[in-house]
Amino acid sequence: MNLPDPGPLYADHLDALVRRADEALARGGFDHLVVPSGRLHYQVFDDRDYPYAVNPQFKAWLPLTRVPDSWLIHTPGRRPQLVYHQPHDYWHAVPAAPNGWWVEHFDIHVIRTPEQALALLPKDPARCAILGEPHSALGGFVPNNPQPVIDYLDYRRAFKTAYEIALMRHAQVPAVRGHRAAEAAFRAGASEFAIHMAYCSAAGQDSNALPYGNIIALNEHAAVLHYTDLGHAAPTPARSFLIDAGASAHGYASDITRTYAAAGHDEFQAMIDAVDAAQRQMCAAVRSGFDYKQLHVDAHLALMGILREFGVITVSPEAALASGVSAAFFPHGIGHLIGAQVHDVAGFAASDHGGRIERPAGHPYLRMTRVLEPGMVVTIEPGVYFIDMLLDEVKKAGNAASVNWERVDFFRRYGGIRIEDEVLCTDGEADNLTRPVFAAQG
Ligand code: GLY
Ligand code: MN
Ligand code: MN
Repeated sequence: MNLPDPGPLYADHLDALVRRADEALARGGFDHLVVPSGRLHYQVFDDRDYPYAVNPQFKAWLPLTRVPDSWLIHTPGRRPQLVYHQPHDYWHAVPAAPNGWWVEHFDIHVIRTPEQALALLPKDPARCAILGEPHSALGGFVPNNPQPVIDYLDYRRAFKTAYEIALMRHAQVPAVRGHRAAEAAFRAGASEFAIHMAYCSAAGQDSNALPYGNIIALNEHAAVLHYTDLGHAAPTPARSFLIDAGASAHGYASDITRTYAAAGHDEFQAMIDAVDAAQRQMCAAVRSGFDYKQLHVDAHLALMGILREFGVITVSPEAALASGVSAAFFPHGIGHLIGAQVHDVAGFAASDHGGRIERPAGHPYLRMTRVLEPGMVVTIEPGVYFIDMLLDEVKKAGNAASVNWERVDFFRRYGGIRIEDEVLCTDGEADNLTRPVFAAQG
C-alpha cells in the first residue's frame, strides 16, 4: 500500500514544535528549552543496564530512539541545537553518525563523553526549562520540568502533525504483518510463546523496539487484561486467541488488538463478529466535537446490548450500566490518545494552561476525557471479558439476577474479546489508520 514519505513533512513538524516551544517558554518565563534524551539505568548491585527508553519529549523532536546522553536545545530565534553523543566504545555498538531527513535542520555537535555536553548547553541553567527525569541531571542542568511548560507542550502534543500521522501510518504495517503471522501460528496450534516469536519475526521487532509488551493470550488467559506471561505449552484445545500487539516507526507507536476463535467455536465467533461490528461503529463516531467520555459510555451500552443478545445478561444495557454490572464485563476504558507514547500524554488536560477533566463516576480506568478535535489520534478498543474476580463482585453487590451464570460458564472458557484500532479525528469522517492495512495485507 502507498505510505506517505515522512521526510518532506518533517520541516513543517519542526516548525510546529518550534512555535509550541516558543509559547511554552514564554509562559514559563524561560529563555531555553533543554531536553536530554535520557541515560541508561543499571540494575541494582549489577552492571546490567535496563532497556533504554528515550525521553518522549526528545523523540517528539527527533526520530532518534537510541542516542542516550544527547541533548536538544531550543532557543527562540536560533536554529535548534543537537548535542549528539557518539562515544568511542568498542564494547557496544554506538549510534551511527547523524543521518536522515532531520539532519539539515539542526546545528549538530557530536560529543564523545556525556560530560562534553556541559560546554555546549546554555550558560545559565536557571534560565532553562529542562524536561526530563532526575537521572538525566548533568552538572547544574537538573531537570526542573516547569509545569506551565509541560502543560502547554503536552496539551498541544495531542494534535498530531502531518509528519507524525505519517509515522503512525508506518507503525501499522509491521504490526499487521505480525498479527497475520500470529493468527496463522494460533491456527497451527502454537503456544503463546511461539506465537509471540512468530509475531516478532514477522514484524521485525522485538522487545527493544516494540512500543509495549505483547499480550498474547489463549483461552482463559484473555480474561487477564494485560496478560504477558507467554506460556510455553499450547493448551489443548486452544479455543480462542486474543492478541494486543503493536509496533514502532521512528519512535511512534501502533497499538492493535484482535480476537480469534478456533474452528468450530461458532457462537464465540459470532460474539467476536458482533463486537467487531460495534467497534467499527465506535470508530466511525470519532468526530470533531464529540466528547470521548460519551463515546466510552455509548460503548458500554453497545457492548451490553451484545451481551444481552447472547443471553449473558438478563437486564437492559441501561440497567447494566446503572448498576455497575456492565463494568464487570467491560472494566477498562474505550481507549486513549496515542503517538510517541502508546498511552500518550494529556488525555485529561482541560486546557494548555493546565487543569484536569475528571473521569465520569464509576469509570476509573478511562484514560481520556477530552472532546475530540482534528489531529487527535485515539485508540478505540472495546472489550468484553469473563473475569471471575469481577463477576464475584457482581454477586456480592446483589446483582446476581442480572446475569445468566450458565452463559457465563459457557463463555468464560474463551476469556474475552477485545478489538482495537487507531483512529485519526479529522474535520470530517473518522480516518481509521489500522483497518486499511489489514485489508491491504489480506
Ligand atoms: N496495549 C495496551 C492498551 O491497549 O492500552
Ligand atoms: Mn492495546
Ligand atoms: Mn490501547
